[in-house]
Formats: sequence, C-alpha cells, structure tokens
Amino acid sequence: MSDRDLSPATSLRRTSGNRISRWSTQISMREAVQSRSPSASPLASSLEGQSMTLATPLFFPAEPLPPVADHAEALKAAMRQVAATVSVVTAGREDRTGATVTSATALSVEPATMIVNINRSSSSWPVIARHGHFCVNILSEDQQDISDRFAGKGGLKGAQRYEGAQWTTLASGAPVLTDALAAIDCEVEEVIERHSHAILIGRVLAVSVKGGAPLLYRQGHYGSFQP
Ligand SMILES: Cc1cc2nc3c(=O)[nH]c(=O)nc-3n(C[C@H](O)[C@H](O)[C@H](O)COP(=O)(O)O)c2cc1C
Repeated sequence: MSDRDLSPATSLRRTSGNRISRWSTQISMREAVQSRSPSASPLASSLEGQSMTLATPLFFPAEPLPPVADHAEALKAAMRQVAATVSVVTAGREDRTGATVTSATALSVEPATMIVNINRSSSSWPVIARHGHFCVNILSEDQQDISDRFAGKGGLKGAQRYEGAQWTTLASGAPVLTDALAAIDCEVEEVIERHSHAILIGRVLAVSVKGGAPLLYRQGHYGSFQP
C-alpha cells in the first residue's frame, strides 16, 4: 500500500528496531483533535505540523478467513506466530498437579488480578476448582525441563511433575516454584466456563520476583529473549 491510498492527513510508515519491524500509523494532531471536537479549532491550529502514532495499525493486508470448518487450523497457525511466555500453573496439596500454560497474564493491577485459560479436560482443572487457588510460576530460560514435566511429557502425572525442583508455599497454599522468574499466588475469584476451557480470574494474594531471562515458546520450539 502506498501513501497515495490514504487520506491526506494520514501516512503509513515502516519502523524497525531491536530486530522487530512493525507498521504504525501516523495521524496529524490537528486532525485527531478536530475529529473529536470540531469546536476546538484554536487548539487544533496550535498543533499544526505535529503528529501522533496510533497504537493500533489502521491498515494491514488482511486475507479473508477460510471456510468455517478450517477456522481452528487457521487460528492455530496464527497463534503459532506468537512468542509466548511459559508458566506452570500449580494447585493442590497432597493431590497437587499442574499444567504448563502460555495463557497466563495479568487482568488488572488494581485490584491485582490474573487470568489463565485452563482446559476443562486437564487434570489441573478439578484440583484448582476444589482448592480455589492456583499459582502462576513464570519460568526462566533454563527451566525447559519443568515446562516439559508440567505439559505431561513422558506420561508424568500429578506429584511426579514436581520432582527435581524446589517448592514452597506463600499465602494460598498452592505450590510455589522457589526458582521461578516470578511467582504469582492467587485465590480463585471467578471462573467462566466457556467452550473447552475454564477462564480463571485469580485475586493476587502474594508475589515473589527473582528476575532473569524468560522461557518463551513459539512455533513448537522453546527460546528466550534478550533485550
Ligand atoms: C507451551 C505450552 C503451552 C500450553 N498452554 C496451555 C494453556 O494455556 N492452557 C491449557 O489448558 N493447556 C496448555 N497447555 C497444555 C497443558 O500443559 C497440558 O495439556 C497439560 O499439562 C497436561 O494435561 P493433564 O494434566 O490432563 O495431563 C500447554 C502446553 C504447552 C507445551
């Protein structure tokens, strides 16, 4: 797409830095102000010549989605492009188990809440539901073996997944990985059961942060991130 295809007040530019290239959209500050409040013309005039970058690209080459039956494969192919942080979600006491996840992230910071998507057919879901707690243990680049264990590699189940690493507890009673990059201990605030998954919303009870390089997962492979 060339700038000719865009309105006079917008331009599309390609930026690059830190090996990441992205499209961003520049819009004139005068147009941004006028579009929201036409009466604010003195302010708009004073912003003549300045520009802002919109957070969301307005233009990108979109392909139409394939027929409905193929959406699952198309979505998987799209999501395989994402480099995601790997965590293990832990729960339980003598019945402890857990799962490797890439779906854990913060929902809000005030109040401090986390969100995780857990498959309802996994061994973790009933244990999380029974105890009303979970801990998100964010893995470091040297903890690939822990990720494999909690993904059930080699048929490992329940407490077997915890062998070979140091564990403690904080507030909720869920197991906390001592050497995690960060561990976020939660009580379950709300569960939304939707499709194959349970969307867990967790109220943060305690946090421990060690820091370091994260373990990432993309295209079926582990990697790491160096700024
Ligand atoms: C990199 C990676 C990310 C995963 N992310 C999720 C996830 O976000 N949610 C989920 O339910 N399962 C996820 N899984 C699958 C679970 O780890 C796996 O199904 C589970 O630990 C094993 O199920 P089981 O406890 O019933 O044996 C992921 C697996 C891998 C390898």
